[in-house]
Amino acid sequence: MPQTALLAPDDRGLARAAELLRAGELVAFPTETVYGLGADATDDRAVAKVFEAKGRPRFNPLIVHVADRAAAARLAALEGPADRLAAAFWPGPLTLVLPLRAGAGISPLVTAGLATVAVRVPAHPLAERLLAAFGGPVAAPSANPSGRVSPTQARHVLDGLGGRIAAVLDGGPCPVGIESTILGFEGGRAVLLRPGGLPAEAVEACLGAPLAQPAADPAAPSSPGQLASHYAPGVPLRLGATAPRPGESFLGFGRVAGADLNLSPSGDLVEAAANLFHHLRALDALGRPIAVSPVPETGLGRAINDRLRRAAAPR
Ligand code: TXA
Ligand code: MG
Repeated sequence: MPQTALLAPDDRGLARAAELLRAGELVAFPTETVYGLGADATDDRAVAKVFEAKGRPRFNPLIVHVADRAAAARLAALEGPADRLAAAFWPGPLTLVLPLRAGAGISPLVTAGLATVAVRVPAHPLAERLLAAFGGPVAAPSANPSGRVSPTQARHVLDGLGGRIAAVLDGGPCPVGIESTILGFEGGRAVLLRPGGLPAEAVEACLGAPLAQPAADPAAPSSPGQLASHYAPGVPLRLGATAPRPGESFLGFGRVAGADLNLSPSGDLVEAAANLFHHLRALDALGRPIAVSPVPETGLGRAINDRLRRAAAPR
């Protein structure tokens, strides 16, 4: 991708941004918190490109951005305290981790294969107009290379990701400037997974109850995804396999013979990432141990191998 287009915040820019999202391209856009790196949340390949562009070493789950509460309720179970918080604070800098609805159509790469999905309705006129023009859920992590600070201006996005994404919608500086507050729910109680733009006190006042702290390391608030138990197949995995042993399913990568499924016959890491969770689930359902071809430890291969190693680890 030679150049990243800087789109003006007008009808033409918005129409182009929506068109690029529909074509499976990545578009950075302003929210009230920080710029997000947007992709069609239902498109496996587009979501895989998000991890590639950011150089993320692992598949952390992403936040899904939707236009309103009704759209959120179509994707996830939005009930009880979660619905009260949504009514009070959306649109706004609040992300809710909720049970994913079956058939919601969200790529499993967005949720890292989890049964929950993080959803929010951003409060920014351009984000609202983009979501309306696109008409579907947009997965978006902060629009920075992995390990760098979140961008609050279009210029920052270009500095970090210029040449790696299709476009940036220029909305000027983000008014809040820090990421959204992330809440999960355990046994009906709200749990603070990441402090952010919405003060915890405001959440507690709305709920009439104190927020619970996550059970795992509360000193690691920047990585709430680590706290969630990740999807792993129920059957054992054997990595770096050049051929299956008797009784094993074979998940191939590249030109290999005898694969039951292949992450990417042509050795394309974006395609492999897009297929990863679908293929693991399909082979898991067969109930046999899975032998997996070696995947190169470069680019998206690092995130693919990270996930495969976790899935192969003894439990
Ligand atoms: O303000 C924000 O939240 C910005 C703007 C663009 O909306 N987005 C953002 O996304 O900060 P990101 O990817 O940098 O952080 C999302 C966090 C990750 O740390 C991830 O682990 C967590 O949300 N997360 C997403 N889905 C989750 C889930 N199902 N369970 C637990 N944590 C989840
Ligand atoms: Mg981030």
